[in-house]
Amino acid sequence: MQYSRCDQSRAWAALQAHYQAVGRAFDVREAFAREPERFSRWSLQAPQVFADLSKNRIDDHALHLLLQLAADCGLQAQRESLFNGDAINHTEGRAVLHTALRAPAGAAPFSDEVQASLTRMLAFAEQVRDQASSGISDVVHIGIGGSDLGPAMVVQALQSYLKAGLRLHFVSNVDGHDLAPLLRDLRPASTLFVIASKTFTTQETLANAEAAKSWFLASGGRDVARHFVATSSNTAAAAAFGIDTSFGFWDWVGGRYSLWSVIGLPIAIAIGADNFRALLAGAHAMDEHFRHAPAEQNLPVLLGLIDVWYRNFHGFGSRSVAPYHQGLRRLPAYLQQLEMESNGKGVDREGQALPFDTSPVVWGEAGTNGQHAYFQMLHQGTDVIPVEFIAVKRPQHGEHVQGELAERLLDQHQKLLANCLAQSQALMQGKTVEQALHEKAPTASKALGALTVARHRSFPGNRPSSTLVLEQLTPEALGALIALYEHRVFVSGAIWGINSFDQWGVELGKALCASLLPRLASGDASGLDGSTAGLLQRLRG
Ligand code: F6P
Repeated sequence: MQYSRCDQSRAWAALQAHYQAVGRAFDVREAFAREPERFSRWSLQAPQVFADLSKNRIDDHALHLLLQLAADCGLQAQRESLFNGDAINHTEGRAVLHTALRAPAGAAPFSDEVQASLTRMLAFAEQVRDQASSGISDVVHIGIGGSDLGPAMVVQALQSYLKAGLRLHFVSNVDGHDLAPLLRDLRPASTLFVIASKTFTTQETLANAEAAKSWFLASGGRDVARHFVATSSNTAAAAAFGIDTSFGFWDWVGGRYSLWSVIGLPIAIAIGADNFRALLAGAHAMDEHFRHAPAEQNLPVLLGLIDVWYRNFHGFGSRSVAPYHQGLRRLPAYLQQLEMESNGKGVDREGQALPFDTSPVVWGEAGTNGQHAYFQMLHQGTDVIPVEFIAVKRPQHGEHVQGELAERLLDQHQKLLANCLAQSQALMQGKTVEQALHEKAPTASKALGALTVARHRSFPGNRPSSTLVLEQLTPEALGALIALYEHRVFVSGAIWGINSFDQWGVELGKALCASLLPRLASGDASGLDGSTAGLLQRLRG
């Protein structure tokens, strides 16, 4: 399908003009003073996720133009192509159907295969969870990128649902410092290794799998076939590795969208079949919202449009994610792959260089930890970095502790929420030099004048943020949250007219690594650039 490229649409030019006239000087504080209803007008409830977008530097007219831009770029038709299974990953000739993995039976393409694969995977997970008969206490998941980040992030987030007596471990890095300390504490007889690789060719995963197998045999492990399983679309390669039990999947499941497939096996082992189905159901509810809600009330669409507004018109180069829930501390890393591997592209679908910016840098840390590290820069630095706060209303630590401790932790949860609110408030509100002048600064040097101290203590404010609120971090809510991010990335990618589903940018490094590996052994630096040759010699031996 042919759509007008975003920068050639009328709406793009109108957005540029609106940015110059209004957007660049837009002040959220003034907007709240002008519009008493701003919070209710710029907030909405999507499945499982409430979103407050009111602290963003956006007005009705910008939104109107962004919606026009989305229409000019064929967002609706592109979205239908996604759900229908058209080969929208055109550089690899593949459909992109992670939505089919969480659709109810009969509701999406490949339903029979999906349901059969899910049933088999969940049955296996339940067998492992039946520790009296499986004898498994430790599950080591070996994979990298999309075959690691999703399962690792979800298992960590859903710790409250983890079966007692079962430990899940994730090994991804080819660096032996990842695997070695873990193996020290494991026993082969009670360990199950899950080797997760869509291609089953990834250097890091195969190296760790081989190392794990050799440890298993050397430590008295007897039955490799019983203690090693694979999740892969290349089950032949898994069999060649010596694995009997493989859970296959399809080329239309992208690596970074694969946690819903058999790649989610460690999640299912950790939280059980019913909770895994709830995770899928939450994601499906968000799929339905994305597919059917009108654009102006469609949360993935609105977030994606604000992303475009900030990236291409305000010129903001990064976005920070601050989940105020310790269980979500790996979410920023997960989102880095989701967004930056998807939309970190420099050519359009026809291969023409793009004259506008694409993926921002996505980064972050769990709150409140991030506050004591980089929030200084968010408040007073020279860059404006939109922040996305994620708050969870009801904690679940009460399920693990009782009595006074439970009370204390509940109180800490109120502190956590107050911090979350305070940060977005402070970013927006700021503090004038005038205000700072009237404050006492107990630690200020007496040698400095009051005005100088006040300048150091003032905040520009008007720093934009969104806040997403979950009632509780349940499997369903997490499923919806992840699907929300997937679709939001789709929206900006569709507007930019790029292929969000390939990742050719990681190939060159892989190829060069393969050619440097033997050189590290031989010392042959011929034909290398001076820096690489010098470093090679330095690192040898
Ligand atoms: O690094 C690129 C990449 O292909 C990712 O997209 C993917 O998630 C990861 O490597 C792992 O690939 P595989 O699952 O094939 O081992």
